[in-house]
Amino acid sequence: MTTVSVIGVGYLGAVHAASMASLGHTVIGVDVDEAKLAELSAARAPFFEPGLPELLGQTQDTGRLTFTSDASAVAAASVHFICVGTPQRADGLHADLTYVAAAVDSILPHLSPGDLVVGKSTVPVGTAAGLAEQVRASGAELAWNPEFLREGKAVQDTLSPDRLVYGVPGGDAGARAQEQLDEVYAALLAKDIPRIVADYPTAELVKTAANSFLATKISFINAMAELCETAGGDVTVLADAIGIDDRIGRKFLNAGLGFGGGCLPKDIRAFIARADDLGAGDAVSFLKEIDAINLRRRDRMIELALDVCGGSVDGVPVTVLGAAFKPDSDDTRDSPALAVAAGLAEHGARVTVTDPEAIANARRREPGLDYEHDLETALTGAGLVLLLTEWTQYRSLDPVATGALVDTPRILDGRNVLDPAQWRAAGWTYRALGRP
Ligand code: UDX
Repeated sequence: MTTVSVIGVGYLGAVHAASMASLGHTVIGVDVDEAKLAELSAARAPFFEPGLPELLGQTQDTGRLTFTSDASAVAAASVHFICVGTPQRADGLHADLTYVAAAVDSILPHLSPGDLVVGKSTVPVGTAAGLAEQVRASGAELAWNPEFLREGKAVQDTLSPDRLVYGVPGGDAGARAQEQLDEVYAALLAKDIPRIVADYPTAELVKTAANSFLATKISFINAMAELCETAGGDVTVLADAIGIDDRIGRKFLNAGLGFGGGCLPKDIRAFIARADDLGAGDAVSFLKEIDAINLRRRDRMIELALDVCGGSVDGVPVTVLGAAFKPDSDDTRDSPALAVAAGLAEHGARVTVTDPEAIANARRREPGLDYEHDLETALTGAGLVLLLTEWTQYRSLDPVATGALVDTPRILDGRNVLDPAQWRAAGWTYRALGRP
C-alpha cells in the first residue's frame, strides 16, 4: 500500500481521496478551504454526492484518511494527486490554470526524490510538459492521469472506471511512473479495468476529446430537435430509432435543455481557445457551433414559456422544477435550469424554483429568485410549471394530483421525461423541446 496525497478536495479530490483510502492506501487530503476540511474531517461531504458520506465514514474509521491545510504534510506521501479545478477564465474562453500552478508550487518544497506527482485536473494540452520541468527539478517525476467521473456517479466512476489513462514521459522515468501508478491502482487493474499508457499530450487530449464528443452528441440531438420543432417531428422517437444502431448508441442522445455543469461547457471552450493558440483552431471550430446550439435551447425554452402564456409571462406565477445542472447533484455551475429560471424572471414572471439538493447553491448564484424546498408548496397556485432538471421525484409526478395543486395546468417538459399523452389526458397543456 502507498501513502498518497490529494491536493484539492472538491468534487474530484474528495471522492478520489476517500476512494484511494477505501482501496487501503493512507491518504492525506490538502486544501486551502478550512470549512471544507472541517466537514471532510468530520466525515461529512461538503457537497451532495450519492455514496460519498458512507465512503467517508467507512474510511475515516480506519484512520487512513486525514485532511489538512498544511501542504508540508504531503512530505509523508510518495504519490501526489493534483485534483484542483480549472474553471473558465473570466476574461475569455481559456481554462484558468492558477489553481493547478498554485497546487504544484505548494508541494514542490516537500517532494522527495522518487516521488510521483499525478495530475488529474482537466488541463489544456501542453500543460503537463510545462509542469514536468518544475517537478523534475525537485527530484520527482510527473504523470497525467485524467479523471472521467460524472457527478452523481463519482464514487462508482472512481472505483470502477471505464478505463485508466496514464500520460507518462518516455524511457526509464516513464516505466517507473507507470509502476507507481499500477501500485496505486492495483485493485482496479485486478478487476481487468483497461489501462492505456500514452505520452503527456495524448493523455491530456483524451479527456478533452471525450468531453467534446459527449457535448457534440448532445448538441447533435438538440440540433435535430430544432428541426423536429420546425418540421413537426418527434426527437425522442428519432433518438430511439437512430440510437438502436450500435455504431451510434442511444446514450447521451437525450434532447432537451442541453448540457451544463462544471465540465462540458468550459472544457469545450478551453479546447477552442487552446487549439487557436496552437494554430489548429480550424480542427475544432465546430465546437463553437456545439456551444451555440446548446445555449440556443435555453432561449427556446423561454420562447416556449412565453408562447404557452399567450405571448407574455409578466406576473405569471411560474414554478421551476430543478436548479442543479443535472439530477443527483447539487451543482448549479452553468446550470441550464437556473439560466432559464433567471431568464423568465427577467421577463417579469414570478419565479419559484425548487430542487431537492441544489437550493443553497442556486440561491448564491441567483439570489433574486424565490426558492421553495417543499415540492407541493412550490407547485401550489402555479400558472406554469417547467420541468428543467429530471430528478426522479419530478419524473414520477402524477398529473392528476399535480393538476389539483396548480392554478393553470400548463407544463413544459425541458428534459422530455414525461408521458405527453398521460399529461394531456389529465387536462394539461403539455409542451416540450423537439416534440409536436
Ligand atoms: C461530464 C462527463 O460525463 C465526465 O466523464 C467528465 O469527467 C466530467 O464531465 P458531468 O459534468 O458530471 O460529467 O455530467 P454528465 O452526466 O456528462 O452530464 C452533462 C450535462 O449534459 C448535464 O447537464 C446533462 O443534463 C446533459 N445531458 C446529458 C443531456 O442534456 N443529454 C444527455 O443525453 C446526456
